[in-house]
Amino acid sequence: MNKKWAPDSNSWINHNSTFISYYYIYSIDVAMSLRSSTIRMARAASSRAIKQAGAQRALTTLTRSARPAVSKQSLIPQGTRGVKTINFGGTEESVYERADWPREKLLEYFKNDTFALIGYGSQGYGQGLNLRDNGINVIIGVRKNGSSWKSAIEDGWVPGENLFDVNEAVQRGTIIMNLLSDAAQSETWPSIKPLLTEGKTLYFSHGFSPVFNNLTKVEPPSNIDVILVAPKGSGRTVRTLFKEGRGINSSYAVWNDVTGKAHERAVAMSVAIGSGYVYQTTFEKEVNSDLYGERGCLMGGIHGMFLAQYEVLRENGHSPSEAFNETVEEATQSLYPLIGKYGMDYMYDACSTTARRGALDWYPRFKDALKPVFSELYESVKNGTETQRSLDFNSQPDYREKLEKELEIIRNMEIWKVGKEVRKLRPENQ
Ligand SMILES: NC(=O)c1ccc[n+]([C@@H]2O[C@H](COP(=O)([O-])OP(=O)(O)OC[C@H]3O[C@@H](n4cnc5c(N)ncnc54)[C@H](OP(=O)(O)O)[C@@H]3O)[C@@H](O)[C@H]2O)c1
Repeated sequence: MNKKWAPDSNSWINHNSTFISYYYIYSIDVAMSLRSSTIRMARAASSRAIKQAGAQRALTTLTRSARPAVSKQSLIPQGTRGVKTINFGGTEESVYERADWPREKLLEYFKNDTFALIGYGSQGYGQGLNLRDNGINVIIGVRKNGSSWKSAIEDGWVPGENLFDVNEAVQRGTIIMNLLSDAAQSETWPSIKPLLTEGKTLYFSHGFSPVFNNLTKVEPPSNIDVILVAPKGSGRTVRTLFKEGRGINSSYAVWNDVTGKAHERAVAMSVAIGSGYVYQTTFEKEVNSDLYGERGCLMGGIHGMFLAQYEVLRENGHSPSEAFNETVEEATQSLYPLIGKYGMDYMYDACSTTARRGALDWYPRFKDALKPVFSELYESVKNGTETQRSLDFNSQPDYREKLEKELEIIRNMEIWKVGKEVRKLRPENQ
């Protein structure tokens, strides 16, 4: 395939028109197959608009995915290695990409390091296995004979070789990746802190512990580098995307830069754990946006919105099947994937004129109704209320049992019981 780097436009241009046509047809096929019964593809004039948008996005996706991993390295000017300034809707930001840190370079960069990853929950599993597959020297530190210890052994970590208890792993490591649960980071800090001697690097995947140190008591030593890489997804996704040859998006931040190398090390680590691209933030902004997002659109907010819509449908005599399909199934199976692939405008454009008109009229009403709740939520994050709640609940010895009880309530809600049945009816699940 014939590719050319165009430094002026910062984009890869692919001259193979056969591949473009194929990709275009394929992407339209995918979009079409996601069509739902109640919302139809707009016809005639609007279908021309869809094709144009589809072709444009297919080309964008193609050019992105067509980038070779290594050869670009030589084309990046010295001194700005790996940094790209991208205009995100009018605001310029610097980002780094995996392609800037090929595996050989990572191995060379970390050749004298031992990554001591403590905690083997969701992130420990994802980041740990990706590091190991990348050839990095990584050891795991968890409570002996706890459930994480057993999971680590199942994943091939060997006691005494690359699996130790927490304190021994911290002593052996040069880069200490604190991936204990946020509550456990606070509980274990008095025993871990004295082991963080000069020359080591302390790494977090969330700003929670150091930012709210008035509550957590986690005050990182001032004589070592302290960095953060926060994957924007669960540890399971960090692992799955890596195995598929893709990468999670992550943010990185620096708390202490004693060596002058903390920024570079954080970016390199983000690639080593399986990130696709990484953007810079601060510890404070990371924790505020993360706690806010998961309570809002990512989890709590979307759940609340699903429940409200479902309940009103049921109160108005709609069957469970109808209420669930109109609320959740169509969203997750048909429309949200279109937003993910091509954007909100594309999703609107792929729906009937009737659906589109209604959505255009009603989204400002929802935004205005919800914005005060989001403002209240942000304040509750910023002033530490959410951190205190998390510490109070998750430090209790029976936190897992209590969580299970709350999840059981959700599992037993009519909407999610209906969901279970609807999922079984998907042809691919039969
Ligand atoms: N999960 C995500 O989606 C996600 C995404 C981005 C960032 N992060 C951040 O990544 C970090 C790790 O999160 P996670 O979700 O992977 O954590 P998690 O699944 O809750 O991890 C729990 C780990 O902490 C250990 N642990 C709990 N209490 C302990 C104690 N008292 N002493 C020693 N070990 C203890 C557990 O070991 P046992 O099995 O022995 O109890 C387990 O290995 C957090 O800072 C989190 O905010 C998470």
